[in-house]
Amino acid sequence: MLKIMPVFGTRPEAIKMAPLIKTLAAQEAIRIITAVTAQHREMLDQVLDLFKINPEYDLNIMKTEQTLTEITVGVLSGIGEIIGKEKPDLVLVHGDTSTTFASSLAAFYHRIPVGHVEAGLRTYCKYSPYPEEMNRKLTGCLADLHFAPTPKAKEALLNEGVPAERIFVTGNTVVDALLQTVDKGYKFKDAALEQLDFKNRKIILLTAHRRENIGERMEHIFQAVKAIVELHHDTEVVVPVHLNPAVGEQARRIFGESERIKMVPPLAYEEFVNLMDRCYLVLTDSGGLQEEAPALGKPVLVLRDTTERPEAITAGTVKLIGTRREKIIEETSSLLTNAAAYRKMATAVNPYGDGRASKRICQAILYYFKLNPNRPEEYGNLC
Ligand code: UD1
Ligand code: UDP
Repeated sequence: MLKIMPVFGTRPEAIKMAPLIKTLAAQEAIRIITAVTAQHREMLDQVLDLFKINPEYDLNIMKTEQTLTEITVGVLSGIGEIIGKEKPDLVLVHGDTSTTFASSLAAFYHRIPVGHVEAGLRTYCKYSPYPEEMNRKLTGCLADLHFAPTPKAKEALLNEGVPAERIFVTGNTVVDALLQTVDKGYKFKDAALEQLDFKNRKIILLTAHRRENIGERMEHIFQAVKAIVELHHDTEVVVPVHLNPAVGEQARRIFGESERIKMVPPLAYEEFVNLMDRCYLVLTDSGGLQEEAPALGKPVLVLRDTTERPEAITAGTVKLIGTRREKIIEETSSLLTNAAAYRKMATAVNPYGDGRASKRICQAILYYFKLNPNRPEEYGNLC
């Protein structure tokens, strides 16, 4: 039996690892031992509950206002110990969090191969996103198998000298999870969401949490959103507020009195993606939302200066607008009032996957361990 250890710790990693874990666990040749760092606690547990994943190990490292050093040290030591005990054949990590990087380093110290899911995304700016750009790059240095979601991500890895035979273009597992969860007939469990007037109001979905945005930039973002609802009476904003206390403090201070800005706690994934499917547009600094919203045909205005996900910008459904108050008001107002501009962006495209990424990654792992003679066909060559 091949012993595979997926390691993850935050909400987005869990969402994107869940379909892969299910696919791997269904293989007779594979035994899965899941370890979570719980760099996030409540937001991770929401996903574990939904996808019915019961980890064998849980480091429970989260602390209020944890520093990057605390996360990295806790994960390196805790995951290192588990890897030393379990000696898996492969450690699987996802994306660009501090859990991702520190777990890869722990595996390397034990000379255990690392599979990097969602490899090769780059902004080439060391501090943007911070610390994710370097987390992903350093993980790439340590990885043995690189699961690049798109041909562009593969190209970035090739340019950095990663051997072609170690790169597999698979699509992003985020699309696997999305297609399994979005449902046109979905009824919200949260009464406040069920009561939203999607017919007569333009519902804007806002999420913001990036470390480099907290402070002045987030002030600009939230002030802009407050101005937008005052300018456009047919709008309502829903803000699932990230549990980082710094985000909540700024959101409550600025939005506290606004009638048409609804702040809610982080939503369960199924509530969230079905809300996204019905909203008018998305304002966000999130990585994952830049992949999900295009698939649902929702225009996305990205509240960042850089993005490691340029494919949907090229496709025209995502626009990078930065964090300046006036610019956010201008771009959002244009989408609210100019039907042609809106239509141009509201086209469903799926540059990030076709729902079969988990299957390709599974096949690639079996191929690497010589349990399957065929390399999986590459995502993107077929589109
Ligand atoms: C982390 C990742 C980021 C990812 C984001 C997804 C790093 C350095 N950052 O950022 O790449 O985009 O997750 O959301 O890896 N908190 C809770 N409960 C939770 C989750 C967070 O209370 O369930 C609070 C805690 O006070 C914690 C703080 O949020 O200290 C920040 O969490 P942390 O994981 O350090 O950073 P994020 O900004 O969430
Ligand atoms: N998400 C969720 N509930 C929410 C907000 C987001 O389930 O209230 C999901 C969303 O669908 C996406 C992921 O969380 O899959 C994005 O996480 P986040 O924005 O925290 O991290 P990032 O993608 O920026 O790393």
